[in-house]
Amino acid sequence: IQMTVNAKKPGAEIQPEMYGVFFEDINFGADGGVYAELIKNRSFEFEHPFVGWTPFGDVVVKNDDACFDKNPNYVRVTGKGLRTFSGLENNGFKGIGIKKDAEYHLSFHARVEKGKTIKLKLEIINSHNDPISVKHIEVTGDDWQKHTTVLTANSTDAHSKFRLMVENWGYIDMDHISLFPGDTWKGRENGLRKDLVQALYDLNPGVFRFPGGCIVEGNTLESRYQWKNSVGPVENRPLNINRWNYTFKHKFFPDYYQSYGMGFYEYFLLSEDLGAEPLPVLSCGLACQYESKELVSLEDLEPYIQDALDLIEFANGATTTKWGKVRADMGHPESFNLKFLAIGNEQWGEVYVERLQRFIDVLSKKHPEIVLIGSSGPQPDGKDFDYLWPEMKKLDVALVDEHYYRSPEWFLENAGRYDSYDRKGPKVFAGEYAAHPKNRDNNFEGALAEAAFMTGLERNADMVQMATYAPLFAHVEAWQWCPDMIWFDNLKCVRTPNYYVQQMYGTNAGTHVLSLQAEGFDLKGQDGIYASSVIDKNKSEIIIKVANTNTETKDLSLTIEGLKKGLNSNKAEITMIQSNDLSVVNTLDNPLNIIPQNFTESISGSTLNLKLTKNSFYVIK
Ligand code: AHR
Repeated sequence: IQMTVNAKKPGAEIQPEMYGVFFEDINFGADGGVYAELIKNRSFEFEHPFVGWTPFGDVVVKNDDACFDKNPNYVRVTGKGLRTFSGLENNGFKGIGIKKDAEYHLSFHARVEKGKTIKLKLEIINSHNDPISVKHIEVTGDDWQKHTTVLTANSTDAHSKFRLMVENWGYIDMDHISLFPGDTWKGRENGLRKDLVQALYDLNPGVFRFPGGCIVEGNTLESRYQWKNSVGPVENRPLNINRWNYTFKHKFFPDYYQSYGMGFYEYFLLSEDLGAEPLPVLSCGLACQYESKELVSLEDLEPYIQDALDLIEFANGATTTKWGKVRADMGHPESFNLKFLAIGNEQWGEVYVERLQRFIDVLSKKHPEIVLIGSSGPQPDGKDFDYLWPEMKKLDVALVDEHYYRSPEWFLENAGRYDSYDRKGPKVFAGEYAAHPKNRDNNFEGALAEAAFMTGLERNADMVQMATYAPLFAHVEAWQWCPDMIWFDNLKCVRTPNYYVQQMYGTNAGTHVLSLQAEGFDLKGQDGIYASSVIDKNKSEIIIKVANTNTETKDLSLTIEGLKKGLNSNKAEITMIQSNDLSVVNTLDNPLNIIPQNFTESISGSTLNLKLTKNSFYVIK
């Protein structure tokens, strides 16, 4: 195969947001996942208030004279000396991941009878029921007060429990019992799991879409994601049921709630840490159209639109404004520089169009600086759904969010998908996509198909301005959807081959598209070859991406044309991911089964000769 890159006239600009991350609290991605809280149901507000807890002795749930008005439940634990033990055990999220010698920060709010001292024993128990950390503390004061202490364990166990016990006579009221590892991402309180955020950081994402997905919509309007409930003091953020409170087969998980401990403030902060543009998605007044299909009438839509206006104020407003002050009080007086806002998730039908219209009418007047994003509806297959592009054009949204979860074959056949999209009108945000192999594994078959398909995103960067794989995270013991980009247990995580493909694009995005030609090949899948090329003007790099989906090696001869002074190096830096076995996956125990390899190759003049191994994806710089 002879390919020629023409570097003379760089083409369309590649948006800095091009390759990003989509985060949703599905598969225990937030609570039990990247949100580092280790206690499940810390404020006893689940429908069954002891979910996550095993009480013993005399323990009751109360809500009179509460510590937090929006989370009023608390427990009263009454000690009877050493005759009858009273206390509580928390099982965490499929256990609590504890590391030897690491610090764990325990906090709780408590009050006891006036003049009384309550002796508490605090323990971390391993999966064999042996204490691996023990501490005794005393609590006084009949007003609600916050107490903190640090626990350190003498061994590692992914399935530990936390136990507290009253050791003397008398009662203690306790609320918001919280345990965090000391080494969160950037050492923040109420922080995030370091290994998981590091994995996101290493993707070099340009955009961060949150908080969903279907949880934006909720199964019902009442359970939709309401961002205002997710900001302010963490103890007083009212809980919400998670829309993913059931599996594919509609098996109910009574223990999947959103604590909102990782809320909109934390999402904005994370976007900033990752160097990605924040892209919040808000409810458009439609509950999940796969579920209840509940909708708010057009006359009653105003509070939903107000939520959008207030969110812009929360993110960008001066600290003297109502919502700008909330942001500043939380620790971020500077603006979060919100530029993008999506209205509605995966919506369809006239009901969506007429609601979106109302949002646009208000937002485009009051905030013309904000880029508004609409939805195309689910991927059209000619059967079930309206295809909303014509309506999105009429509404003149800036970007249309398309979702597609399809077979690897579909991805391979659709590398030319955007070649013929109408350039006049909205651009594309591929907000959720993933190749779904038959067994729904995160195997190399799916990853290679995504890599090949993405050459088409890149080639059409004038049309496709952002793309985010989905879903992002999954707990190996508690998930509802697969495949997913990053899997984890309570202590470790594993990067899938799909992750590495995203990383190869995200860290080699370039700034402008370059023309790439090959005689006899369309580079969109003809004879199993897919390719695209870009230039990174800031780094003076020419980057070519090539996927060989054949089961045999192909010889590539790649020539760079159009450089006035020729290449400034006689070496190509190459990153390559390949496997003879398309079913290969990475696992927590074998996370390096398939990972990219780096090497260099000599360039002779302006031509590079390279053997493209079977089933392979290359980034050549
Ligand atoms: O990513 C999983 C789900 O797929 C999202 O919540 C939803 O938008 C889509 O249907």
